[in-house]
Amino acid sequence: MRVLVTGGMGYIGSHTCIQLLNAGHDPIIVDNLSNSKPLVLDRIQKITGRRPGFVLGDVCDKRFLINVLQEHKVESVIHFAGVKSVGESNSLPIKYYENNFIGSLRLIEAMQSANVTSLVFSSSATVYGDPASVPIKESFPIQPTNPYGRSKSMVEQFLQDFQHANSDWSITLLRYFNPIGAHDSGLVGEDPNGEPSNLVPYIAQVAFGKRYSLGIFGNDYDTPDGTGIRDYVHVVDLADGHLAALNKTINTPGTHVFNLGTGRGHSVLEILRAFEEHSKLKIPYSIKPRRQGDIAKCWANVADAHKILQWKATRSLATMIKDTWNWQVMNPNGYDS
Ligand SMILES: NC(=O)c1ccc[n+]([C@@H]2O[C@H](COP(=O)([O-])OP(=O)(O)OC[C@H]3O[C@@H](n4cnc5c(N)ncnc54)[C@H](O)[C@@H]3O)[C@@H](O)[C@H]2O)c1
Repeated sequence: MRVLVTGGMGYIGSHTCIQLLNAGHDPIIVDNLSNSKPLVLDRIQKITGRRPGFVLGDVCDKRFLINVLQEHKVESVIHFAGVKSVGESNSLPIKYYENNFIGSLRLIEAMQSANVTSLVFSSSATVYGDPASVPIKESFPIQPTNPYGRSKSMVEQFLQDFQHANSDWSITLLRYFNPIGAHDSGLVGEDPNGEPSNLVPYIAQVAFGKRYSLGIFGNDYDTPDGTGIRDYVHVVDLADGHLAALNKTINTPGTHVFNLGTGRGHSVLEILRAFEEHSKLKIPYSIKPRRQGDIAKCWANVADAHKILQWKATRSLATMIKDTWNWQVMNPNGYDS
């Protein structure tokens, strides 16, 4: 299948392109390289023996998207392109609503013009805000607590309204929990610009000596060790979830919503200890005050993804840590190494 992958040069998109190529699909990437590097294409080729199509451009540019969709005879779209830092979204809300919401709106307009009616969209567990209980079901209330989460929930709402008015379309919303890890070759992984905003890349950089110490935000949550608990999922499992979503939903008109996680949680201290055990290094850390908007516990109910997509995350926490560390050691400065 010819699949347009917006944001396919990024962390989750690049791993998904690898799995698409391995499964015999033809991904065409559209990316503005605002948070990724051209070298990703060489790395994908090295791993799969095939090079995905790549067109430099922005998802907010409807005319450009129509041309790409028509020229490459695209049959389906996976939409990763967007910005993703909760903290930054508080200070730069326009950037978040523009890239995430306006970008998605323009993409749908372009798909409609080019008569492409199947979409898989990258949403986030952030849309659940602070849930009343765990594990989180897809039917839980949508109550995001920051501009990033609101930009995602607005896209979800828009896509549901749009599909309602266009019943032949198939739209799948995937709510990711916390993707970590890297390809086991060590050639592709997460390459944050500047200071990482996620826990695991931060730990990896401290372990490697690039950063002095890890700040843990709060150790007085209602959890066994007092630190926050999240559902960490291997990025390659997550990539496989996109293939499952593509295959299962392309011929099933409607709006489909799935959590993608492992269904179990690990605390910050558990992740830190697992990293120390694997790397055989001591990772310095200090306890800082809670961060505004952070929640105590968040993990997914993944029953629907198991049942309907026949998808299940199979990689263990030890594998996630091993692959993260391998990527860090092989690429001390990310793709600029
Ligand atoms: N990584 C996570 O923890 C996480 C969790 C939940 C949801 N998500 C969502 O998944 C998607 C992918 O995340 P990721 O971790 O791979 O992020 P990423 O930043 O690594 O990848 C996003 C890619 O999109 C590109 N991009 C950004 N704005 C664009 C635009 N306007 N036009 C064209 N390209 C653009 C960037 O250059 C980058 O290559 C995002 O939508 C993100 O919000 C990520």
